[in-house]
Amino acid sequence: MLAELSPFNISLDVKRRLSKARYQHSLLAAQTAEQMAKSYGVDTKNAVLAGLLHDWDKDLSVDELVLKARMYGIEVPLQPESLLHALTAAISLPEVYPSLPGEVVIAIGRHTTAAPQMSRLDMIIYVSDIIEPSRKYHDPGFVEQVEELRIMSGPRSLEIVFTRSLCLTLAHLLDKQSYIHPVSIEAMADVLDSFGSSMDLADRGIYQQSRHVLGLARGLL
Ligand SMILES: [Fe+2]
Ligand SMILES: [Fe+2]
Repeated sequence: MLAELSPFNISLDVKRRLSKARYQHSLLAAQTAEQMAKSYGVDTKNAVLAGLLHDWDKDLSVDELVLKARMYGIEVPLQPESLLHALTAAISLPEVYPSLPGEVVIAIGRHTTAAPQMSRLDMIIYVSDIIEPSRKYHDPGFVEQVEELRIMSGPRSLEIVFTRSLCLTLAHLLDKQSYIHPVSIEAMADVLDSFGSSMDLADRGIYQQSRHVLGLARGLL
């Protein structure tokens, strides 16, 4: 299938491919990404495309995902299945949409684990996936923290909103004793090293908490 690159056509393709709830999540992630892109001076079309497409492979079964990952040479044993959908989508989407911008593909590939040297678009897609308004969480503490993130998005710097998002994700995984991908730990270290010195006084609490969580996560390596 070679599809035309317009957000409208892509949303139809996504609708056909995903469950109703996942389609709704993708639409709202795209809308949230568009708002964030406007606030932070990032290309809005790229934000919408990446938001729409970020969960392209999320409804594949585990067997289908593993097969697809192997087909594209992704090392399956090192990846929990929940992370594979981002990697397989990033490798296969340019075949479906050859004119999809490279930066959109990269943002899709980084939306689950994040990575060092995140672009502003990468950060927007990572955060939009977490804060889009239909996304439900079970842990009441996490719900409250995501609500704070929604309020921070726009008024506070993109770097601090992303840092806070990644910190919450890592802290949540630590709490549940779940697997943390090493690249997420590298991403946390990188964003703190890159932006830590330029954070203003209001951001110091988030910076210090993120450093603490990073230390705990590194202890697992
Ligand atoms: Fe995802
Ligand atoms: Fe998602």
